[in-house]
Amino acid sequence: MADIDPLEREILAAVTATEDEAALETIRVAALGKKGSVSELLKSLGAMAPEERKSRGAQINRLKDRVTAAIAERREALKHVALDQRLNSETVDVTLPVRETPAEAGRVHPISQVVDELTTIFADMGFAVAEGPDIETDDLNFTRLNFPEGHPAREMHDTFFFPPKPDGSRMLLRTHTSPVQIRTMLSQKPPIRVICPGRTYRCDSDQTHTPMFHQVEGLVIDKVSHLGHLKWILEEFCKAFFEVDHVKMRFRPSHFPFTEPSLEVDIQCRRDRGEIRFGEGQDWLEILGCGMVHPNVLRNCGLDPDVYQGFAWGMGIDRIAMLKYGMPDLRPFFEADLRWLSHYGFRPLDLPTLAGGLST
Ligand code: DAH
Repeated sequence: MADIDPLEREILAAVTATEDEAALETIRVAALGKKGSVSELLKSLGAMAPEERKSRGAQINRLKDRVTAAIAERREALKHVALDQRLNSETVDVTLPVRETPAEAGRVHPISQVVDELTTIFADMGFAVAEGPDIETDDLNFTRLNFPEGHPAREMHDTFFFPPKPDGSRMLLRTHTSPVQIRTMLSQKPPIRVICPGRTYRCDSDQTHTPMFHQVEGLVIDKVSHLGHLKWILEEFCKAFFEVDHVKMRFRPSHFPFTEPSLEVDIQCRRDRGEIRFGEGQDWLEILGCGMVHPNVLRNCGLDPDVYQGFAWGMGIDRIAMLKYGMPDLRPFFEADLRWLSHYGFRPLDLPTLAGGLST
């Protein structure tokens, strides 16, 4: 006992004094490990007489049990302390406002929103989306659309031309989405029912014109479609897009080389202190051009005008976006100013649907 008691006191004192689990493990190894102080005592048993070994052995084993228990207890206590410390240092202040995720903080540009809206509306009427390149040939942008060479209508488009190629032909930035009509008729067999939203370019810039702008073209080709269908489609579109029950539309005779007859469409509105309301009022606002596809255009695409017929229209997307969302100036659309975008932009996860609402 003479050597056991001081050893026990020494070990237990060290156990109580230690403040971290690593140090406690060092104490455990120093006492109970293979070469530890308690294990050394056990080794001394071999040299003893049987009687003495019995009582001494029991004493040492009890010492071992007490040390083991003390270490286990201390380890538990230290674990709690460590956990408390972590909980204190890693607390979350649940009263703080939640930071927005990128999907919540980002905004969809009004043009993208309007393209999604009109695609949704026309998809519901059975239209597919067709696309073409921004850089077009003179042939597709003008010639096949029945603009004769040297015709003044070409000059009216303020075209951006690329330098001429060795063969004299010039590529250009498409001045309207109408060349996608040609591409579609060349690559698909009627019946055709497509819309073609996209970027268009003209050398023009003021409050309502930018050198790059957006149009959406519509094209229907089959054997029976006529102006009555076109009127219905455009009316249904305007009601759905402007989210009103009635719109009054006015079809005025006009001229485009690629349609015959050609019409321009105005919708009735009321201008009220900078705001525009549809379905009421005395004012008319021009929103698109349209007509029956010209027989020459059908022929230029390999379609027999005695068999096939159809209609087309072209509408400025930026224009209807400005009207619908009350944006007075077109230029900030393309200035990439985050303040403008966070004011006029749309939440990314609020996708426009006919059932759920287009713009809410
Ligand atoms: N391409 C014409 C423009 O940019 C708009 C247009 C008018 C397109 C009549 C059409 C149409 O498809 O039939 O001024």
